[in-house]
Amino acid sequence: MGDSNINGLTNGYSHDEMVDPRDPALCPNLVMAPTVIVMVGLPARGKTYISKKLARYLNWIGINTRVFNVGEYRRQATSDTLEDFFNPHNPKAEAVRKKCAQAALEDMCRWLQNEEGEVGVFDATNTTRARRKMIYDHCAIDQCMRVFFVESICDDEEIIEANIREVKVTSPDYKDMNKDEAITDFLQRIDHYQENYVPLDEKCDKNYSFIKIFNQGERFLVNKVAGHIQSRVVYYLMNIHVLPRTIYLTRHGESEMNLQGRIGGDSDLSHRGKQFANALSKFVEEEKIESLTVWTSQMKRTGQTAAGVRAPKMAWKALNEIDAGVCEEMTYEEIQEKYPHEFAMRDQDKYHYRYPKGESYQDLVARLEPVIMELERQENVLVVCHQAVARCLLAYFLDKNADELPYLRVPLHTVVKLTPIAYGCLMETISLDVEAVNTHRDKPKSMTKCKSGSKVPTNEELEASQIPT
Ligand code: SIN
Repeated sequence: MGDSNINGLTNGYSHDEMVDPRDPALCPNLVMAPTVIVMVGLPARGKTYISKKLARYLNWIGINTRVFNVGEYRRQATSDTLEDFFNPHNPKAEAVRKKCAQAALEDMCRWLQNEEGEVGVFDATNTTRARRKMIYDHCAIDQCMRVFFVESICDDEEIIEANIREVKVTSPDYKDMNKDEAITDFLQRIDHYQENYVPLDEKCDKNYSFIKIFNQGERFLVNKVAGHIQSRVVYYLMNIHVLPRTIYLTRHGESEMNLQGRIGGDSDLSHRGKQFANALSKFVEEEKIESLTVWTSQMKRTGQTAAGVRAPKMAWKALNEIDAGVCEEMTYEEIQEKYPHEFAMRDQDKYHYRYPKGESYQDLVARLEPVIMELERQENVLVVCHQAVARCLLAYFLDKNADELPYLRVPLHTVVKLTPIAYGCLMETISLDVEAVNTHRDKPKSMTKCKSGSKVPTNEELEASQIPT
């Protein structure tokens, strides 16, 4: 447990006074305040699914987010996993469960206050009013954090059973138990929680910020959304769905510029690029994908690649390749020769590096956010795009961080098949067997040295490599 007392008061207000922590007079730095997302709901209502997915999205858009799962703390604290441990009339177990929740809460707050965390997701049942008040008081009143409750309510027996079968019986809680026994035990665990469950209430909880999600997004109730992070969370949660589907991701066929080793531009497909376009339409036909839509960029090479695929198409400007600014249509050798400083800077921090008069990978992620949001709404989609764009999209689905993202391998003439599964995404890579140039450039082992021998260029070197305007 950390330094601050879980029940202590550090800002001088009584918990019973209804202090609104959104009042800037009380919490002057609220714009910068960390956000705590508190999950609420009975077991098997998709809380962990939502927590992980939300964290993946927020991290991808650059908001440092981490999930704190109380079940994991409980598994560290005890080997007791059977239903009686969750029985509200088992005081010993109840005390252990409370301690685990407090430990997770303390760790989350410490991470948010001391380690540059921006959003903590508190993944637990939090089914009683007392538990929610304890969390709210500790985070919002004592520590001036923004608290947002996300409640998942589901009364569809089929959805609940599917969830139990998919993720609960394979949980470490049931590792030595047969499936049917595990299901029976888990249903009893749910009954124990049900006994004391009090859902968030429009009237009693009117001062809390929250969203209630009914039956996996059939309906929503949103209350007192505060700040841009909460609005983004609400927007995201209202766009995702859990229907089975597959996303196919590929780059355009090899282009004339690829053959010359030049980046960017808007050239036509090479001969082999056209062969890939044919192979792609054959592949799609053989996959027999229901209600497929095809998305391309607005560049010639993606349109030409998708031309033969028999499905409705849409050309997005947002899917255009990263804008290399003054380096457009140059080879890496030419860039290194003409702009050595720029070349070295890009190797030092490829994600944040912005081409002069062009874009960075970070810019690209921001440009692609509406594409991701729309992809979340859709079912089967084939995205025909470009190397940097494909890396950004893959990083979202595979939960890759900003260091890994610019170096993800997405070879030409390969289809990546992404199928969402329980808590992640299954990736299958299918080469369509048409030769192409390799456009991947590995992360340099050590940073490129400047002429002076140092890793950071001197002012003279900087001036010598100034980009013409
Ligand atoms: C768990 O121990 O699996 C969850 C604890 C809780 O959130 O009630």
